[in-house]
Amino acid sequence: MAGWLNLEGKGALVIGAGGLGGATAQSLAAAGARVAVVDRDERTLDAAASTARAADLEILTLQADISTPEACRAVVAACVDLIGTPRAFVHAVGRNDRRPIVELGDDDWESILRLNLSTAWWLGQEVGRRMIAEGEGRIVFVSSVSALLAHAHHAPYAASKGGINQLMRVMAREWAPHGITVNAVGPGYIETDLTRAYLDRDGHRESLESLVPARRLGVPSEVADAATFLLSDRAGFITGQCVYVDGGRTLV
Ligand SMILES: NC(=O)c1ccc[n+]([C@@H]2O[C@H](COP(=O)([O-])OP(=O)(O)OC[C@H]3O[C@@H](n4cnc5c(N)ncnc54)[C@H](O)[C@@H]3O)[C@@H](O)[C@H]2O)c1
Repeated sequence: MAGWLNLEGKGALVIGAGGLGGATAQSLAAAGARVAVVDRDERTLDAAASTARAADLEILTLQADISTPEACRAVVAACVDLIGTPRAFVHAVGRNDRRPIVELGDDDWESILRLNLSTAWWLGQEVGRRMIAEGEGRIVFVSSVSALLAHAHHAPYAASKGGINQLMRVMAREWAPHGITVNAVGPGYIETDLTRAYLDRDGHRESLESLVPARRLGVPSEVADAATFLLSDRAGFITGQCVYVDGGRTLV
């Protein structure tokens, strides 16, 4: 299976070692890629590295906060020192604030757009420049079903994910002549640290499951599998697409 993907020995940079970034880093390492993962949280990074070690794999870690353009550029440069220009790049950081529009302030809007969308711009641009110089590359952004659906109490998050999808499409168009593909995965509800507290409260889990045609929530490895395929040689003619990994949630 790993050989089919042809990721052996290729550099892969994953931003975000949480539920979905962590699972994607493991999947890429299992496919033989040289993986570097970046997160601001040391314990999350340690967990990613030790999960890999337990499976006889290696994941390199870099602790950094990516909240500014300077930090994003420094992170890419540091990771190039570790793994070379990445052949595969994954953006898997984001946060939500489930409050009504009228209760959110300017800072709430700004901080969600900065983390979810501006970091994708800063990192994607910097990685893209380097991939163009190499004449190849694969980029995957983690979007969301919120890019399509108008969930109440998701305004900044939904705007950021709609923005991710359009950023991804324009990068895909501009960079296709350089041998680079740019895609997104759009998860439905997946149980991770981002969603667990919400799912555990007030019957949210049951009511969300009832909205999914598959009648269940997803697991991180299901998102990681889709991302790994899009980052592999097998997906060379797929670009500018958001693959929804949602048990049919966006169909209803
Ligand atoms: N879990 C879901 O159900 C779900 C559904 C749709 C989309 N997504 C998207 O998937 C992506 C990853 O989400 P997740 O579920 O893995 O979340 P998570 O909270 O488990 O992981 C996110 C990681 O980002 C890191 N991070 C946050 N701010 C950072 C910063 N400034 N610098 C460096 N690292 C930072 C956190 O430390 C954390 O480890 C996000 O873009 C999210 O919107 C998740």
